[in-house]
Amino acid sequence: MNAPIPLLEVRDFGLEFRTRSGTVHALADINLAIHKGETVGLVGESGSGKSVLSYAILGISDRAARVTGGTAVFGGLDLLQARESELADIRGREVSMIFQNPRTALNPIRKIGRQIEDVLKRHAAVPGIALKSRAIEALREVNIPDPERRYHAYPFELSGGMCQRVMIALALACKPALLVADEPTTGLDVTTQAGIMDLIKGLAAAHQMATLFITHDLGLAADYCDRIVVMHAGHVVESAPVAQLFAAPRHPYTAQLIRATPARDSLLGALSSIPGNLPDLRREDLPPCRFSERCLNVTAQCCESLPRIDADATHAVACWHPLLAGEAQPVAKAQVESAIPEAGA
Ligand SMILES: Nc1ncnc2c1ncn2[C@@H]1O[C@H](COP(=O)(O)OP(=O)(O)O)[C@@H](O)[C@H]1O
Ligand SMILES: [Mg+2]
Repeated sequence: MNAPIPLLEVRDFGLEFRTRSGTVHALADINLAIHKGETVGLVGESGSGKSVLSYAILGISDRAARVTGGTAVFGGLDLLQARESELADIRGREVSMIFQNPRTALNPIRKIGRQIEDVLKRHAAVPGIALKSRAIEALREVNIPDPERRYHAYPFELSGGMCQRVMIALALACKPALLVADEPTTGLDVTTQAGIMDLIKGLAAAHQMATLFITHDLGLAADYCDRIVVMHAGHVVESAPVAQLFAAPRHPYTAQLIRATPARDSLLGALSSIPGNLPDLRREDLPPCRFSERCLNVTAQCCESLPRIDADATHAVACWHPLLAGEAQPVAKAQVESAIPEAGA
């Protein structure tokens, strides 16, 4: 049986920024695929290239960005080669995006109901007479209480969590096939965060929508995603179904990231931090494996080349010396016990 064609397939993609202080080699050798209805978590430390990658997919990169190679095919169209008019047509209708700061993404001087109507008019050709009821329906679908009244609200009259719900309503107004959510709950309190994540997950399932969920929080991705793609310094280093990634991470960086992630019910004392920093992406002498300078398993081979990551493999890893099953116990039991203070201590 042939594997189903992915909804979005990024192959050998690279991007750099020309800046006054040098060229930033932001993304290289990116390979990833997202299938219909799938929720994929894109995780990695801050600065690893998650946002740059998502902006490139949507064709909204900074002007200093230059694609160095590769393809990003969505519905048969290479988004990297597409004309701006083609991209404008796809954005909002077939691929939508929500950002970390909904308040800045919303128009501050337009009623939220009107903003939803604008999207419906532009992308869904909804007739004028049906616009208001469709906008109210969209607000109801994201569980905004009293949507008839809230239709008339301005963004500043709503809480951060409510603004994010409006962003989601805007993004989903035209039932896109793919939602890109870049840190959609960062900055919200934990309860609001869970509410927003449950909402996105529920709507994605109801509409058979694929989601690329971008987060620095591996624990959050584990709770909501089917598969996780791990990025480090502009490379995809590993990709696997969630359970497999946690049970047997193969890239040394993933193993360290898991050790640095608090389980929802765990003891913070057992956490470790990841040694070293991301390399400066302006360096001209970046090693082929950008993790090699932080890696305990490094050999000369890692400084000569990097194995290509296979986006179609169930569990893919870009490492010459991947960990074997059982080699990367996320947190040893003894470590947890030693972190528990003695009673009365
Ligand atoms: N417009 C830009 N000009 C130069 N460098 C940029 C620009 N945007 C992002 N970068 C660099 O690209 C790298 C990845 O950034 P980003 O995608 O925002 O990281 P993440 O979203 O994973 O935290 C960082 O080193 C960042 O400094
Ligand atoms: Mg980011």
